[in-house]
Amino acid sequence: MRQNNIIKYLKRTALWFYLLIGSLIRYWLNHPFETPAIIRFFLKKAVYIPKFTKRNVLTEKEQFNFEENLDRVTHLYQKYGNKFNAKYKDSYTKLDKLLTDKEQILYFQIRKYRPSIVLETGVAAGVSSGYILRALKDNHKGKLYSIDLPFQWYTYGNHELHLDSLPPGRNSGYLVPDDLKTRWHLLIGDTYQLLPKLLQQLKTVDVFFHDSEHTYKTMTFEYNQAWPHIKKNGLLLSDDIDFNHAFNKFIKKHSPKYFVFKNIGVIIKSK
Ligand SMILES: C[S@@+](CC[C@H](N)C(=O)[O-])C[C@H]1O[C@@H](n2cnc3c(N)ncnc32)[C@H](O)[C@@H]1O
Repeated sequence: MRQNNIIKYLKRTALWFYLLIGSLIRYWLNHPFETPAIIRFFLKKAVYIPKFTKRNVLTEKEQFNFEENLDRVTHLYQKYGNKFNAKYKDSYTKLDKLLTDKEQILYFQIRKYRPSIVLETGVAAGVSSGYILRALKDNHKGKLYSIDLPFQWYTYGNHELHLDSLPPGRNSGYLVPDDLKTRWHLLIGDTYQLLPKLLQQLKTVDVFFHDSEHTYKTMTFEYNQAWPHIKKNGLLLSDDIDFNHAFNKFIKKHSPKYFVFKNIGVIIKSK
């Protein structure tokens, strides 16, 4: 039994390294000018990689904590939801101290907007997906479409190399409780291929949430793709708007009504 577990663990870890190294080699071949950033990453951060492989034994606790967080946000909404108006800046300022986890704002917005279709890019463990799906469940309405491609490398800021990965043996959205999955369509693949196709198929969406690769190029690509498909009075949301100027440039171009909650940008499409 113990021997089987060890073999299983070794297999998982080997597959994890294969995905990690394979994706890094692909990134390196496509971005040879980022070689110094790759070398810097290994000198500074590669020491954490073996520690990260052990995370698969922690995920049950992580799952339990996450389900508790979902219960907590439902209670917070029951208490403060009637004072929240997703279209007023004041509402966001009031929630700033109350909501400890920045993705909780997604729950509040989805409860208020009662959307039929939500589309998000970037799932990873599934924190944002979980909050959105819990809100849809509590609304008794709506579907979530998510796009994710794990094991991605990219550079941001001053050529800092960044890795988005999953713990060994885990798939995108592993934190999402099973009872929330009935309203969920999870697509695995590159946003550059899947997002345009999905938008064509859905035609319109009520809420779009960017949380995939936070580079200027990808953020701008996703905002521009999604914008024409967002319904009047719908929302364009983006995480990590402080990574580059993509969000600010988009605001300048379209001059919409917008707010910033922690570092999530919220745009209301009024036309
Ligand atoms: C910041 S994480 C998502 C976090 C998640 N929304 C949450 O709240 O926990 C970004 C995710 O986007 C994925 N990703 C990066 N580039 C992508 C691409 N080109 N297409 C699809 N997904 C991508 C990453 O692998 C990672 O799983």
